[in-house]
Amino acid sequence: MAQSVRILMCAPQHYDVDYVINPWMEGNIHRSSRDRAQEQWQQLYEILKHHATVELVEPQLGWPDMVFTANAGLVLGDTVVLSRFFHPERQGEEPYFEQWFADQGYTVQKLPKSLPFEGAGDALLDRTGELLWAGYGFRTELDAHPYLAQWLDVEVLSLRLIDRRFYHLDTCFCPLTDGYLLYYPAAFDTYSNHLIERRIPAEKRIPVDEVDAVNFACNAVNVNRTIVLNQASDPLKTALSARGFAVIETPLTEFLKAGGAAKCLTLRVTEPRQISPQATAIQHRVVRFEGHLLDSGLVNRALDTIVAGGGSFQVLNFTLGEQRQDISTAEVKVSAPDITIIEDILGQLVDLGAVVKSDDTADAHLAAVAQNGVAPDDFYVTAIYPTEISINGQWIAVQGQRMDAAIAVTQTARGLEARCKLLRDLQMGESVVIGSAGIRTKRHDTSLKQRSTEEFSFMGAGVSSERRVELVVEQIAWDLRRIRDQGGKAVVTAGPVVIHTGGSEHLQTLIRGGYIHGLLGGNAIAVHDIEQALMGTSLGMDMQRGVSVHGGHRHHLKAINTIRRCGSIAQAVEQGVLPSGVMYECVKNNVPFSLAGSIRDDGPLPDTQMDLLQAQADYARLIEGADLILMLSTMLHSIGVGNMTPAGVKMVCVDINPAVVTKLSDRGSLESIGVVTDVGLFLSLLVDQLTKLTGEYARAN
Ligand SMILES: NC(=O)c1ccc[n+]([C@@H]2O[C@H](COP(=O)([O-])OP(=O)(O)OC[C@H]3O[C@@H](n4cnc5c(N)ncnc54)[C@H](O)[C@@H]3O)[C@@H](O)[C@H]2O)c1
Repeated sequence: MAQSVRILMCAPQHYDVDYVINPWMEGNIHRSSRDRAQEQWQQLYEILKHHATVELVEPQLGWPDMVFTANAGLVLGDTVVLSRFFHPERQGEEPYFEQWFADQGYTVQKLPKSLPFEGAGDALLDRTGELLWAGYGFRTELDAHPYLAQWLDVEVLSLRLIDRRFYHLDTCFCPLTDGYLLYYPAAFDTYSNHLIERRIPAEKRIPVDEVDAVNFACNAVNVNRTIVLNQASDPLKTALSARGFAVIETPLTEFLKAGGAAKCLTLRVTEPRQISPQATAIQHRVVRFEGHLLDSGLVNRALDTIVAGGGSFQVLNFTLGEQRQDISTAEVKVSAPDITIIEDILGQLVDLGAVVKSDDTADAHLAAVAQNGVAPDDFYVTAIYPTEISINGQWIAVQGQRMDAAIAVTQTARGLEARCKLLRDLQMGESVVIGSAGIRTKRHDTSLKQRSTEEFSFMGAGVSSERRVELVVEQIAWDLRRIRDQGGKAVVTAGPVVIHTGGSEHLQTLIRGGYIHGLLGGNAIAVHDIEQALMGTSLGMDMQRGVSVHGGHRHHLKAINTIRRCGSIAQAVEQGVLPSGVMYECVKNNVPFSLAGSIRDDGPLPDTQMDLLQAQADYARLIEGADLILMLSTMLHSIGVGNMTPAGVKMVCVDINPAVVTKLSDRGSLESIGVVTDVGLFLSLLVDQLTKLTGEYARAN
């Protein structure tokens, strides 16, 4: 028995579902059986007694959730940070837990009353004890995390929870012995997933699927190589046992009705302290709003922007104008887990009209352009609204206002001048505004509403019409296989919709599989592909969650800037800057590509050929000798290709719009096939079919 580990539990004498403070409780009020709960709790207690010393805190009438001791506080060494419960329904537990810790001789640290933090439910030590994973988003405020770093002298990594069912970190995240991690990735935002992936090597991560997650498999108690949990699927048990863990299942269904299981019912009160004290990366800034804040709904929108961007806020003061025509002012403290996120949020708040207050100076920050046509990394990306920047305490109006530009500041005979400049026009040595301090924009409320509706409807379009698609796909898969095996040539022309619709991974599979021998497109497919590879979004849409990311429209410009800095897509791949995606696969698999410019291109990428005569020549070279051309959702480039393709080449045109398909396939060539469907779906069916064919081929041989 490993007596060195001490665990705190609380008997379920007064346990019941008395109220609803999480989605699990909905419909379960007074539906749990106390006898069964007692039985299940006792079983857990008996199991844990074999692996640890179990201490008990006295249950209290009227505080049914005290049974979930994980939320009593967070212990490290002889210090405990006491919980500050978010919901009043649990706040009465605080003094009882405080008393218990004090009686045991712990140093009790208490957060300000207005700062919710729910103990080891939302803060889990890496089992090496070197860092603390802290959750926020539902119960714990991000602003509580710096206190943990300070009081416990530990590096804090903040993770944002986004699925209401997994409202505490310990419901979806469980650090295990030897640096393993059991977790449900979909419970976290993209940034948090990246953070986890950066800090925990792939071979140590054990992601669970939704079925295991809702059975609270991650809400597990881990002592050495033993894991005690409510229920785990066979594949999960196999995965854990392959890593040397023994899994003990013990039913805790009565507690699931309140949204808790094994881990929630326990608190580890022995957590040895490690030596390497670290700081937290959490950033804070104060922003100021002025105007008709309530009428325009601006404050609500700003607060939503902060939360949606992964930050948290505190309204420091709000002065309401007395008369209808008077303006109001508000100061809001914004916190975010790191500098990149806070800068991203601040950029959006500036677009909303906020002024970021800087400690040292209210002036805009400037940096010199180090390479012609390339802005400094954190350059401020302009919006369409009239903008002013503060230099030497003076507000200067920015000239030539347009969106997606940088602001260049130059000294002229008339004095300092600020002007919107496209990336490609930036000259070495020129000063460009970076960050978001000392910038203000003026906007009309209606224009904001209009713009967000347009953005939404633009990205929201797309219904799939599938007519015998599968049969056609079988035929095309067969052709692709034959062409590849006979040393023929298949070329793809693709539009950015391929990326938006999730077709990217399938197109990558085709390239890797040797089925594609040339890629033709415009600036957009490459930009969106690179944006997805670098930032997980495509034209600002989060590709994992399928929702648009606030301020994400800037991502594509930042992606372009990154490639411009590297010199070309191939160089970005070589330098390790571009690690994945369709363009990456082209470079890695020596598939030649040509990107033809168009009048609507942003940037463009260095690889985009803006000399259209040259682009046509490049296209012609790449399709020469082609047996099949797959035209994927780009009217412009498909027509361009169609115009230069000789008869006899099979053309397959895939587009959601029947008119486009008709236009492209009805070219008097018997070899043309039109497929009216969603291009993402088409590509996924095609890859499935090829996989099936390959399997059959392997079996036949
Ligand atoms: N940021 C940029 O630089 C940028 C952005 C967009 C486009 N462009 C450029 O503009 C030019 C034209 O762009 P384009 O080729 O995208 O536009 P396009 O209008 O020529 O073609 C888009 C096609 O996709 C089809 N489509 C839409 N949703 C679909 C779905 N779910 N499944 C299948 N088909 C679907 C449409 O019906 C349309 O025919 C290109 O040169 C492109 O590079 C540049």
